[in-house]
Formats: sequence, C-alpha cells, structure tokens
Amino acid sequence: MLIKDLSKFVEKEVTLKGWVANRRDGKDLVFIILRDGSGQCQCIGDIKLIGEEKFNAAVSLGLESSIIVKGKVVLDERQIGGYELHISELDVLQNVKDYPIAKKEHGIEFLMDQRHLWLRSNRQWAIMKIRNQITFSIHSFFQNEGFVQMDAPIFTGNACEGTSNLFETDYYGDKAYLSQSGQLYGEAMAMAMGKIYTFGPTFRAEKSKTRRHLSEFWMIEPEMAFHDIFDNMDLIENFLQYVLQDVLKNCQSELQIIGRDTQMLESSLGKFPRLTYDEAVRIIKGEQDVDGQNSIKSLEDLMATTENRLSEINTEIAEREQKLKTPGMKKGEINFNQTKIGQLKNEAKDIEEDLRNIPQWISSAKNFEYGNDFGGSDETVITRLFKTPIMVYDWPHAVKAFYLKRNPNDSRFARGVDVLAPEGYGEIVGGGERETDENLLIEKIKEHDLPMESFEWYLDLRRYGSVPHAGFGLGLERLVTWVCKLKHVRESIPFPRMYGRLMP
Ligand code: 4AD
Ligand code: MG
Repeated sequence: MLIKDLSKFVEKEVTLKGWVANRRDGKDLVFIILRDGSGQCQCIGDIKLIGEEKFNAAVSLGLESSIIVKGKVVLDERQIGGYELHISELDVLQNVKDYPIAKKEHGIEFLMDQRHLWLRSNRQWAIMKIRNQITFSIHSFFQNEGFVQMDAPIFTGNACEGTSNLFETDYYGDKAYLSQSGQLYGEAMAMAMGKIYTFGPTFRAEKSKTRRHLSEFWMIEPEMAFHDIFDNMDLIENFLQYVLQDVLKNCQSELQIIGRDTQMLESSLGKFPRLTYDEAVRIIKGEQDVDGQNSIKSLEDLMATTENRLSEINTEIAEREQKLKTPGMKKGEINFNQTKIGQLKNEAKDIEEDLRNIPQWISSAKNFEYGNDFGGSDETVITRLFKTPIMVYDWPHAVKAFYLKRNPNDSRFARGVDVLAPEGYGEIVGGGERETDENLLIEKIKEHDLPMESFEWYLDLRRYGSVPHAGFGLGLERLVTWVCKLKHVRESIPFPRMYGRLMP
C-alpha cells in the first residue's frame, strides 16, 4: 500500500510503511507526516484510540524514524496529498535520534556531504521524480519515432570532444579514456540501423567549479542516417517539446513542491528561434535587439534591481535580528525568526554572487570577439532575452569539433547546432551534421592533433556506404536543471561527481 494510492481507499483501513518526515504534538493528539517514497500523508494518533503506551512512543519519534502504521483513510483536502490517516496501530522499526539534517537552513556543502540522506527531503524527492519523468519521456519519444536504443562503450581509445578534459585510465597496460560522448560509435550504429540513440554516462575532467559542469553526466545521443542539419533541428525541437509536455502533464505537484513557475516551460512549447552564429553574436554585443530588448541595457537594469533587492534583504535581516532581542519572546517565534534570517542570508549570498557576475556578463558581452565560441556568460546574456530555447547554428569551424560538416555554401562555418535554454541557463544540447568527406576529416583530425590510427575505424564509415547524417547530444542534468530552475547542476543527479567532490 502506497501513499500515492490512498484515494482508492477512503474510509478503509490500510497499512502504510515509511519514515517520519515531521511530527507535531498536541495534548492528546500526535500529528506525524509520514513519507513512503511515493508521497506524504499526515497520520493522526489519538491517545484514546491507540492507548498511552503507543501514544508515548509516537510523541518520542525523531525525524526519519522508520515506522509502520495502520489506520483509516479520511478525505481532507487541506492536508498534503488530500488525505489523512487516523492511526489505529503503530509499529516502530527504528526510533531515530539526532537526524543530521534538521529543519533549519543548512549550507550547501553540508548538504552535499549528507547527500545520501538529503535525497529524502521533499524538494530533492521532487527533483528526482521530475528527472525520472524526463528519462522515461526521452525513451518513449525515441521509441515512438522508431529509433533503436544502442549502447556505446565507456572505455574508449578515441577522444571525441577535444583532448583537454579526458579522464585517462589504464586498460591492461594501454591507455584508455572514459567516454566523453558515444557519438562516434553512434554514427557507426546509425549506418547499421538507420536511426539510433544512446543513453549513458559520459565523463569530462572539468577542472573548474561552475554551475553547469559535472565530471560524470548522462547524455542522450540520437544519430540519424539521411538527416541534414535542418532535419536535426526539427527533431530537437519536437523532442524537447514532447518531454516538456510530459513533465507539465505528469509532474504538476512536483513542480509545485520545488516552487517552479511553469510559465517559461509552457512558453517553450512554441517555435524555437533558429539563429545563425552571426546573428547571435550581434544580439550578444547589443547590436541587434530582440523584441525591443537590448542585451546590454537589460543587464544594466538587472544590476539595478538586484542591488535594490540586496538592500531590502539586509534591512529585513537587521530588523529581525533586532526583534530577536525582545525579552520574553516565545520559542516558536524565535525559531521562526531564526529560520527566516537563515533563509535571507542564503538569498543574500546568491545575490552577492549575481552582483559579482552581472558586471562580468556586461563586459564579456560588449567585448565578445567575433569568431570565438560562446562562454557561459555569453549564453546567459543571450538566453535571458528569449521565452523559448533557441538554436544557434553555423559556427566558425575552428572552434567546434573535428567531425562537423562544413557549410557547403560558406566553408568558414561548420554545421553545428547548440540549443540554449532560456532564463540564462544556456547550452543543453550540442549537435550537428557530420562531415562525410574523408579528406576533410583527415585534415581536421590532424589539425586537432588526434592520433590517426585510432580513427581508422571511424574513417571506414566514410569509405563504405557514406551518407549524409546528423545527430545531437542532450545533457540530461542540464535539462533537469533548467526544467526545475535549479541554481546548480549538482542537485539534478542523485550523486554528483564534480571537481572537488567524490563522496558520498
Ligand atoms: O556539446 P557537447 O560536448 O557535444 C557532444 O558531446 C556531441 N558529441 C554530442 C553529439 O552530437 N552526439 O555535449 C553535449 C551536451 C551539452 O550540450 C551539455 O548539455 C552536456 O552534453 N554536457 C555536460 N553536462 C554536464 N556537465 C558537463 N561537464 C557537460 N559537458 C557537456
Ligand atoms: Mg557543446
């Protein structure tokens, strides 16, 4: 019996098994918020019904104690989930004292150290449920479209995405790398099956702490024979909209738990603008407006409103700290104010970081040098101006991967496409049409200083039945981060692996 199914058992006796997420005591009543992984339910223990011994056991339960309760399901719309349980029996499996994560505000590093426990909290639970929905929708989209799921190896001899962030490992005395991308194998598999997708872990040694980079992340990589860059963009748009629609349809309560304003997800069901690199650069530099909005001007406005918000917060903190000095304040009120101050201080920390970032965004936008790849700030600057993801294509070939096809009409550009998510999130998808000309590929492999012998098998794909083809890679955690509007990618995966963190 799971909490999510309570609606089918109104006025019936059921047994629930789970953990104490919260407890509140009245004189003769105890209120336990039970969570069982499927949802939460308030369970009420009445001393008259359960007797003194069970009642005393109930009021001694610490957070995350494991229990089994039996009782009657009662409809009550005001309660979490819409039902409550009137306890008739209570079994304590383990009464927990001093659960490390209290209800006060904790710092992020502490919570990351407690990740194995933190996953139980309501917000983390909701994020993981949304991640699960996204994974499911990804498979159902591609399966419905006739793609075959195939798996690329994780140990590989090929660098796919540059050599600067490879994790090297020993493979029976030879050098091997942990895969940065399944794409090269995906291309081989597409020549066998037509349309395939891989969905697996990929690895990049990203030696810097950013909000967007993990060392281990999950990537979905479709690859399609007989697709060009425009077919690729059509597919990306249909695919992302399908997933968003599913999340909006099936995860309303989870989105509500995390406080996600879903407007931007809904507006993302509209057409994704397709911008060439040239156009995107003009927008970043403030030489071209988007719906009357100028990139530089809007950042300057943002700076002003952010400064205002910080001073509001600081005033409120000071007021509450002053208030706490009032003699005889009740314990509840003290706790409330302290929690509030903790929250405000955390918000202030984030805002101070924004205040350090915004001037950098402004200066990197103004000084963007034509021909460069976009950095995180450039992506933030441009995506703030749109209400849907945007697709930027036709990049200067020198800054993109070796395998991208040259634009046949203008060989300065390669047919790569990046999808940048709105609200400042930036790149969630990288892909493109693949070079089919063996000689151009050989030239590129040399230019990138890659060992030719480990690419012989890849070049065979251009020697035996070469066809136009394209594909892309979606970073699952980047998508989850945007959909959930998380500040940092670390909360989008159960156990993040990133620079400076291997535990838990
Ligand atoms: O743009 P990338 O490097 O493209 C590829 O790997 C291609 N081979 C994909 C293809 O065409 N089949 O990476 C693709 C996506 C990025 O857009 C981003 O979402 C994600 O993978 N990604 C990361 N996510 C988290 N942490 C990192 N360090 C990431 N690096 C890339
Ligand atoms: Mg990329």
